[in-house]
Amino acid sequence: MFKNIVLLCTILVNTHGVPQYNNEYWAGRWFPHSASETDQNPLVLSKKSHSHDHGIIMGKEDSSCDDAKTNLAIDWFMNKANFTCLDDKKLFLPQSIVHPIHTVEHIPAAYSAAHKCMNESIEYTESIPTFGTHRPLWAVYGEYTFVPKQRWIHNLEHGAVVMLYHPCANKNQVKLLKSIVKSCLYKHVITPHSELSYDRPLALVTWGHRLEMSKVSTSVAVEFIKKYALNGPEKTTKDGQYSWMLEERSKIVSDLDDTNLCPVYSNINMK
Ligand SMILES: *[C@@H]1O[C@H](CO)[C@@H](O)[C@H](O)[C@H]1NC(C)=O
Ligand SMILES: *[C@@H]1O[C@H](CO)[C@@H](O)[C@H](O)[C@H]1NC(C)=O
Repeated sequence: MFKNIVLLCTILVNTHGVPQYNNEYWAGRWFPHSASETDQNPLVLSKKSHSHDHGIIMGKEDSSCDDAKTNLAIDWFMNKANFTCLDDKKLFLPQSIVHPIHTVEHIPAAYSAAHKCMNESIEYTESIPTFGTHRPLWAVYGEYTFVPKQRWIHNLEHGAVVMLYHPCANKNQVKLLKSIVKSCLYKHVITPHSELSYDRPLALVTWGHRLEMSKVSTSVAVEFIKKYALNGPEKTTKDGQYSWMLEERSKIVSDLDDTNLCPVYSNINMK
């Protein structure tokens, strides 16, 4: 039962039947290889020949698996500690000499992130993951008091930009980055994240990319969003279902597809 639910939507759509693969199954190759080599993995072949349609199972509310309401505490302590500054704010002050870091994770084109039901925990090795196993229901686009990564990773898969800030990060810097994200695109999720570093307590994340910053540079942030937003492997404009602690829904910037990214920053030249 569960094995059928967790498979990537594309596979479910393409095969029109019961997939044969285990949720953690991967017999392909994990690293980029030369273009002349062909990968004989059936998952790769089926994904190459089809567009990424929105799946049938994904995003369906199934209370026995995930209804976006039950057992939420498995993903975080549901404690104020997760979004309150408990450290010395001075340690997080913006520093002009600390340059932003852009990390790129090489996710194979045929990688299929698994869905896990709420009866199983999901751990990540990275403190700011840019891909991975996640919950079947994703977050409604917008700004949150707190939303755990098990949810927003699913939004990344749909092309969202996730803005993370440490609860102790400088308020003006947080405000500036929020205003950039909100005026750049509809598909965004904004949440505090206590696993950011003292040196770079602000981050923008998309599927496979993360930009960690000490001090916001509008041009660097806008360039990152223009280049890496909407790069998730699954194209769907459907909004999420999870909305616990949602403060404000996203507003449309250009249209639901974010056809025109960062329109107010059209003066920023792309390198
Ligand atoms: C978790 O729940 C799903 C759906 O109800 C079920 O298929 C799966 O076997 C359960 N997993 C565990 C570890 O109990
Ligand atoms: C939530 O807070 C607990 C303890 O304060 C911490 O161990 C955990 O990593 C936090 N989780 C998130 C997602 O911030």
